[in-house]
Amino acid sequence: MLSLLLQPSSDLSLSLFLFFIFSSITTCLSEDDEAFTKCAPLPFRCGNNSYDIRYPFGVDNPNRPSYCSYPGYNLTCTDDGNLFANALSDNFIIQDINYSANVLHVVDADLTSGGCPLPSRNSTIGSFIFSYMNQVLKETGAPSSTIDLFPFNYTNEVMNVTLYVSCTAPLTEMVISSYYLHQLPCLTNGAGNYAYFTLQQLIVSERLAICSGPVIIPLLKSAADKLWQDGGANFGDALERGFDVQWMVGTEWCAECESSGGRCGYNESNPIEATCFCRDGKQIARCSSSKSLLFSIL
Ligand SMILES: *[C@@H]1O[C@H](CO)[C@@H](O)[C@H](O)[C@H]1NC(C)=O
Ligand SMILES: *[C@@H]1O[C@H](CO)[C@@H](O)[C@H](O)[C@H]1NC(C)=O
Ligand SMILES: *[C@@H]1O[C@H](CO)[C@@H](O)[C@H](O)[C@H]1NC(C)=O
Ligand SMILES: *[C@@H]1O[C@H](CO)[C@@H](O)[C@H](O)[C@H]1NC(C)=O
Ligand SMILES: *[C@@H]1O[C@H](CO)[C@@H](O)[C@H](O)[C@H]1NC(C)=O
Ligand SMILES: *[C@@H]1O[C@H](CO)[C@@H](O)[C@H](O)[C@H]1NC(C)=O
Ligand SMILES: *[C@@H]1O[C@H](CO)[C@@H](O)[C@H](O)[C@H]1NC(C)=O
Repeated sequence: MLSLLLQPSSDLSLSLFLFFIFSSITTCLSEDDEAFTKCAPLPFRCGNNSYDIRYPFGVDNPNRPSYCSYPGYNLTCTDDGNLFANALSDNFIIQDINYSANVLHVVDADLTSGGCPLPSRNSTIGSFIFSYMNQVLKETGAPSSTIDLFPFNYTNEVMNVTLYVSCTAPLTEMVISSYYLHQLPCLTNGAGNYAYFTLQQLIVSERLAICSGPVIIPLLKSAADKLWQDGGANFGDALERGFDVQWMVGTEWCAECESSGGRCGYNESNPIEATCFCRDGKQIARCSSSKSLLFSIL
């Protein structure tokens, strides 16, 4: 119907077209849908940075209804200016949100100070997902099939560095070369304290039993490559650069909703449905083109 109206072939369709445009102007300007309006991107300052709050993320703000975000995806700004997401656990500080790639840039909160930290736990995200799942299941009482099993995943730009630390004796050259290890100078200080790292897959071996670990730390590939090339120098800087994770909720439909002029949201009576709030109040996977097209023409 719209394409017909956009190519008026007679006086009747031309006047229909004009009538349609003028009535659209009044509805567009007077009453945008409430959910559409309230779920507009919300500028949010935390520490030295400024972010947009958009689906799937929310903040505890009276003007931001919970239907604008996915449950558990609230962002919290601490007094010292660090941003966290409930769903990702308090162990990771969020440094950047890229909505077009669905990517968060994060850094382990224990590893932000450069220098030469001795990591005591894995910085892998998988270890935290299980507790998040339990929390969401408890809060919503929803059957597990309705909830994304993997709320976050690594991007292709991420690789693991695996550490074997606090070794009580130096490893032999043969062990070092057969497991693609490299000594980590800043955590090696003789006197029964040696440390090694590898970019290869996790190894569990008797020959490494004199070390603690393995400790797995995801890094950006560029930082991991540089760490290897530099022979383990600037270890703390590599960790401090953090890594990227991709969020999984809404990735199949939210971009399409937004490009059709809508705003993504969540309807607890329809948790697995794509909920796209449109300017005209419709709630479907994607807004119909007529209004958003007319609006962009006007
Ligand atoms: C998350 O934010 C929503 C508003 O967007 C609020 O209703 C809810 O209470 C918050 N939840 C938590 C755990 O802070
Ligand atoms: C904000 O910037 C100041 C000055 O550069 C710096 O001292 C402070 O650590 C920064 N805060 C955060 C949370 O990064
Ligand atoms: C977001 O990610 C896309 C795709 O990877 C990239 O092209 C874009 O530059 C990123 N945006 C920002 C602000 O970094
Ligand atoms: C890190 O993860 C690996 C593989 O799951 C595990 O073997 C290791 O014990 C973990 N390290 C720590 C310090 O928990
Ligand atoms: C997470 O990433 C891994 C590796 O890139 C991939 O094999 C896996 O399918 C991804 N999981 C999801 C839920 O997308
Ligand atoms: C890094 O290690 C974690 C935990 O063992 C694993 O889930 C993930 O797939 C690994 N990532 C890569 C790129 O190998
Ligand atoms: C959620 O979906 C139900 C059923 O489709 C609908 O009646 C209701 O209005 C929706 N709620 C919100 C907040 O959009």
